[in-house]
Amino acid sequence: MSEIEIEGGPRVPCADGDTLLAAGLRAGLGMPYECNAGGCGTCKVEVTAGSIETLWPDAPGLSDRDRRKGRVLACQSRPVGDCRIRLRLDPACVPPVPPRRQRARLIGAADITRDIREFRFATEAPAAFLPGQYAMLSVDGGPRRAYSLSNIANTAGEWHFQIRRVPGGAMTGWLFDAPPASVELDGPFGLAHLRPGTRDIVCVAGGSGLAPMVSIARGIAADPNDGRRVHFIHAGRAAADLPGAGWAEALIGLGARLDYRPVVSGDDTGGLPRGFAHEALAAFAAGRFDDFDYYCAGPPMMMQALEALLLVEQGLPASRLRFDRFF
Ligand SMILES: Cc1cc2nc3c(=O)[nH]c(=O)nc-3n(C[C@H](O)[C@H](O)[C@H](O)COP(=O)(O)OP(=O)(O)OC[C@H]3O[C@@H](n4cnc5c(N)ncnc54)[C@H](O)[C@@H]3O)c2cc1C
Ligand code: FES
Repeated sequence: MSEIEIEGGPRVPCADGDTLLAAGLRAGLGMPYECNAGGCGTCKVEVTAGSIETLWPDAPGLSDRDRRKGRVLACQSRPVGDCRIRLRLDPACVPPVPPRRQRARLIGAADITRDIREFRFATEAPAAFLPGQYAMLSVDGGPRRAYSLSNIANTAGEWHFQIRRVPGGAMTGWLFDAPPASVELDGPFGLAHLRPGTRDIVCVAGGSGLAPMVSIARGIAADPNDGRRVHFIHAGRAAADLPGAGWAEALIGLGARLDYRPVVSGDDTGGLPRGFAHEALAAFAAGRFDDFDYYCAGPPMMMQALEALLLVEQGLPASRLRFDRFF
């Protein structure tokens, strides 16, 4: 156990093995971050006393200029003894549910598409998280990766994930080919979770971005006081990348309030409409972009196209969009 001092602010304990970011969030600090995976660069801090070890020295979230200036990624840095860091805390980043590390047993797995499988884990304690959040999963001695929850909080301690197999992938190799009996589950993380609102919502899921959008739609379905409709654009490269007819409707349970719109970018459309996620969104919301709040999850390229459409072209305020980029 060591101690992290925030310059001009509080001191927080850091348990063995924790990163600067995890320790800060466990203590309820508003530390800015997004992916917790070294990809986005949102969690940069300066270490002004003490030293740290870097988990992933080549993480793309840090530029050469950042490295020259002595900045580090809080999500990829573990303190070696006590240390002091400089950053600007943001009340908007205070975790709604502080993350915790716990053991999770694998209790089931089922294929959803040709390369997406749902994995269900169970913890002793209730599963506490908000729709749209994610957890870090790690296999003993193996990699540690972020995966979004596809279900909603529950007292049974169930955490469901919908994970796409990545050819040659370190973590997905374990999960698909040699599923461990249990993993370490650290969470919840993420600020792109469901917020209250009065406008209907549009969820845009690309590829493995399915899980958090399913969770958000299920969160609305489970709240008897939430009457919003959900327009769900689900993009894949081929028809085989999308679950069969009726799958989303049955799982989400929103009845007529769910408007599920699959779209396929490649030649193998299987009779589904053809286009990219941002094109499907542009066609759907033409002339009424302002009527909706937006939740989007998927690969960074897809997010760029959606940001260009919603923020730049349509001029919507950033507060109307929640993005989960899967680095
Ligand atoms: C917030 C978030 C939510 C996500 N949710 C989902 C989801 O619901 N479903 C899903 O299928 N995928 C999701 N992903 C992607 C997932 O985390 C993995 O990147 C993906 O499963 C591939 O992992 P892999 O180990 O099999 O592949 P690999 O190719 O071995 O690793 C891929 C990723 O691991 C990271 N990485 C690579 N090297 C290192 C290193 N040395 N140290 C630390 N990290 C490294 C990089 O981010 C890289 O993109 C999410 C990612 C993020 C950031
Ligand atoms: S939160 Fe650390 S790089 Fe994204």
